[in-house]
Amino acid sequence: MIALASDHAGLPLKREIISLLEEMGLPYRDYGAYSEQSCDYAVYAQLAARAVASGACERGILCCGTGIGISMAANKVKGIRCACVSDCFSAKLTRLHNDANMLAMGARVVGPGLGRMIAEVFLTTGFEGGRHQRRVDQIMAIEAGEDLTAGL
Ligand code: RB5
Repeated sequence: MIALASDHAGLPLKREIISLLEEMGLPYRDYGAYSEQSCDYAVYAQLAARAVASGACERGILCCGTGIGISMAANKVKGIRCACVSDCFSAKLTRLHNDANMLAMGARVVGPGLGRMIAEVFLTTGFEGGRHQRRVDQIMAIEAGEDLTAGL
């Protein structure tokens, strides 16, 4: 299950992602917003991010104007590693190396075709593990309040 969310600015790109998910046969839940009326991205980021953090959804895709605000908001939810991406290389690497569980894109940054490609790469690439697992664990340790610098 893929969690989706956007603000008004990200809505056109989210619609593209919905059509991609339907083509791919992947189920999704759209946590809003549902209209182009101006709204606040953090609200929808939190809704979708909670769905991913709780395990109700495996991954999430967020869209706002730049992808930045909505990714910052999602990353405040414990358990979320949201990457704001505007190219396919970063989409692949954030899955391989960072095990990102959410992707954010900006509808004012990437066009519909590129946005679909980025989302497809994000959804079809697995985590490489190995040395990257240790680094992802360190990111999550910072979230848990641990001091990574103690041994330096
Ligand atoms: C909305 O105008 C815009 O600020 C928002 O979509 C996003 O780009 C914020 O980061």
